[in-house]
Formats: sequence, structure tokens, C-alpha cells
Amino acid sequence: MNLPNMLDAKKRNSEETKHIYLDDKVSDMYKNKKYFIRTYGCQMNVHDSEEIAYILESVGMTPIDTIEGADVVVLNTCAIRENAHDKLYGFLGRCKHEKETNNHDLIICICGCMPQEESVANDLIKNHPYVDIVFGTHNIHELTDMLLNKMDNQNIKVYSMQGEVFENVKYKRDSNIKAWVDIQYGCDKFCTYCIVPYTRGKQRSRYSTEIVKEVECLKKEGYKEVTLLGQNVNAYGKDIDDISFAELLAKVADTGIDRVRFVTSHPWDFTDDMIEVISERDNIMPYIHLPLQSGSSKILKLMGRRYTKEEYLTLYNNIKAAMPECAITTDIIVGFPGETEEDFNETLDVVNACKYDSAFTFIYSPREGTPAAKMEQLDKKVCEDRLHKLNELINKYAKEANDKYLDKVVPVLIEGLSEKNESLMMGYTDTMKLVNVKGDLSNVGKIVNVHITDVKTWSMDGEIVE
Ligand code: SAH
Ligand code: SF4
Ligand code: F3S
Repeated sequence: MNLPNMLDAKKRNSEETKHIYLDDKVSDMYKNKKYFIRTYGCQMNVHDSEEIAYILESVGMTPIDTIEGADVVVLNTCAIRENAHDKLYGFLGRCKHEKETNNHDLIICICGCMPQEESVANDLIKNHPYVDIVFGTHNIHELTDMLLNKMDNQNIKVYSMQGEVFENVKYKRDSNIKAWVDIQYGCDKFCTYCIVPYTRGKQRSRYSTEIVKEVECLKKEGYKEVTLLGQNVNAYGKDIDDISFAELLAKVADTGIDRVRFVTSHPWDFTDDMIEVISERDNIMPYIHLPLQSGSSKILKLMGRRYTKEEYLTLYNNIKAAMPECAITTDIIVGFPGETEEDFNETLDVVNACKYDSAFTFIYSPREGTPAAKMEQLDKKVCEDRLHKLNELINKYAKEANDKYLDKVVPVLIEGLSEKNESLMMGYTDTMKLVNVKGDLSNVGKIVNVHITDVKTWSMDGEIVE
């Protein structure tokens, strides 16, 4: 057993990060067994689940899409807000029921950001002894050994550490068209509301040579799009003696892969060089996720965001001046401790100025162990009203942004069948707009020109033109 500790989780020293090359471990111990993975949270977790899927298959398993019939269930969790916790416990109840009533041998695994929290790990020991295997964000690769040497009692291995960088990681990717590529792990920004620096360790970059090699391989395998992943991709390379994020973008674009995307850009480290390279290269997509969090400089300061409302707007204007067609989306938190009606109105002012293509909006959720959780909390009803008001404005601008596409012809990378209507295909524009397209499966994996015939708030319809 190895338990997490919030004090260790926030330690940062200048020790060099170890870059560890993983070996492939293959076994047929779980031959004919089925696995089910449920993923909560951000793209990083989605990509980690692709690593977990590879590990489960390398010990002999095949996937199944229900817990009924599964031999191993993996719940890859998120800790960002309280409702992420609630969702996990709801589903865990179902797994417990399945284990008690239908399959006593069901192996239940919990991983991801939640077990990195001390209180969650303790709760799993005390109240959920039927959970078999618990691991964290720093030791996904140890899952192989935890499965091959499975014990009868609960096995918890979670490390609160600054973290390493693993290379040679293998994935069973969800798509054969677009791929996630980790470029940086962890976060050192310590925004006062956020749990991520505690659950994911220090900000550490992969070597650019390894990243470029991975993209070159993906291109050879036929992938059309890569998304470079990190909590603050713009800070890439600062922790190692390597190139800057702008230079990395250029090198990745040089591989010739059709589409390059990246998330997330913190406004603080966004350089003019980045704007230049994104605007100059055709295969770097004109789409930037630029989290605002709040439009009030007073609240931004309390959040520890390190930029003011004015600095954010200047950056926004610089991006739009270089790339008028660039889509910009954002994240906004309402109800942060100390947020007055005037502060909230300043957030609305920024939304009115930026007219975002879309936004993820949240009510502030106190996370145990973070500084903001100790501040005086706002009334729930006030927060809900603000969220509602904000969402109405966000929806209005999302529709306006989509309206501009009506009757235009735009390139769309076709990914597969539309979820809503199986007689249609779906794909994304280079600005990340979802388009449902008339056509057949022969177009999957191709970038086609689509005439936009109808626009809604969150999607568009179109027809392929020659
Ligand atoms: N690294 C990214 C954010 C990752 S978390 C960045 O800095 O932009 C994704 C989003 O979750 C954040 O942008 C923020 O809007 C939201 N979030 C994080 N912690 C939160 C909390 N305690 N309560 C509500 N929303 C939160
Ligand atoms: Fe969280 Fe801030 Fe780091 Fe983003 S930059 S992951 S919001 S601490
Ligand atoms: Fe959630 Fe962890 Fe991502 S807390 S948002 S899964 S980094």
C-alpha cells in the first residue's frame, strides 16, 4: 500500500526530471477476459485511458462496452469539481452491485486524479473495500504488475511526487484519424481554486525530439490530426533545455501532418512567436482555447492567474489582428469567493468584447487543500443565477459565430457516423466546428469541402462539394 499526501503533492524543487523509457510487458494471464473503462475529466484522462486500454490488452483482454459481462472495470476519475466526485460514486455503486450479485470475481480498479487526493484514498480504504486496485496519475505503467500479481485484499499504490516523464508509452488509440500527443505533464501555476497541480505533479516537458518522432510515426500510420496536450502548453520546454512551444509547433507542422491542434494555452505564457507561427502555417489550425476564468482583475488576482482583464483583452486583440478567422473558446468560473455583482458584470463585459465561439462555464467548486477553499464562499443561488445569465450570453455568441458559416464552403475532416443521425457523417472544420454531413463511409478520414446549408448553436449541417 502506498498512500497520497497533499503536502508532498505540492512540493516543488529544482531537481531534474527523470525521463524513463518503458519496456513492453506482455502476458496472456487474462486471456479471454473482458475489460470496461469509464473515463471522466479532461483530454489528459481520455489519453491516459488509451494507455490503460493498451496495458489491459497486452495482458490478454478484449474490450466490452457494458459492466455486465466485464471481468475488469477501470474507472479513470477526475477531481476538478465536486460533481466529478458525485458522478464517480454513482457509477461505483453500480459496479459494487454487479460484483455482489452477478460476478464475485469482478476486478474493480480506480485511477486518475481522485485517488491522488488523500481524503479519497482514505475513503476507499474505509468505505469501499470491494475496490481491488487503486493507482494514480504517476504510475499507470504499474497497472501491469498490479494485475499480474493481484492480491486478495485491496491494493492501493498512489504516489504524491513531482513526477517523471515516460517515453515509449504505448496506446490503444480510440481513433485512427486523430491522435492525442502528450507534450507536457503536470502544472506549476497553482491557481488558487485548482487541484490539478496536486494531482498531476510538477510541470514537466517531454523532449521535443520524442514528440516529433511520435507525430512522424502517427503520420506514417495514416493519422490526419494531432492535438498536443498539456495543462499549459505555452510553457512547454521551460523546465528543460529544449525549444520553445512556438518552435515545437513549427517542428510538428514540418512533419506535414494535415492538422495540428493544441490545448490548453494559459494566457500568461502566450508569446508573439506563437501567434506568428500559428498564423503562418496552414496545418496549424486557427482555433485557440484561451481560458479567461474571470473578467475582473480583482478576482483574477485572487485566483492567482497572473494576468489582468486588460492584458487578456490585449492578447485576444493581437490574436484576432493576426488571424481574424481564428476561433477562440474559453473557460469561465462564476461565484469565486469575493466575486461581487460588479466583478461578474466585468466577466460579461469581456464575453461581450470577445464574442467567444463557445465556452465551458462552471460554478466555483471548493477543492480541499487549495487556498480558495478556505476563503468565504458565495451563496449557491447567486452562483446559479450568474451561471444562467452567463450561459445565455455564451449561447448567443456561439450561434452568431456559427451563423457566419452559412452558405460558405469549408474544409471538414470526416471522422465517422453522426451520433444523432446515423444516416449522416460528422466531422470538424479547422476552427473546431462540428458539422453533420450528407455522405457515405468512403469519406471517413478525408478532408472534404463542405457547403454549409444550416447552422445551429452547437453544430452545422452541410453537403460535400467536389
Ligand atoms: N490548465 C487549464 C485548465 C484545466 S482545468 C487552464 O489553466 O486554463 C479546466 C477548467 O476547469 C479550468 O479552466 C477552470 O475553468 C475549471 N476549474 C478548475 N478548477 C475549478 C474549480 N475548483 N471550480 C470550478 N471550476 C474549476
Ligand atoms: Fe489548474 Fe491553473 Fe494549472 Fe490550469 S493553470 S491546471 S487552472 S492550476
Ligand atoms: Fe480532472 Fe485531472 Fe483532468 S482533475 S480535469 S482529470 S487533470
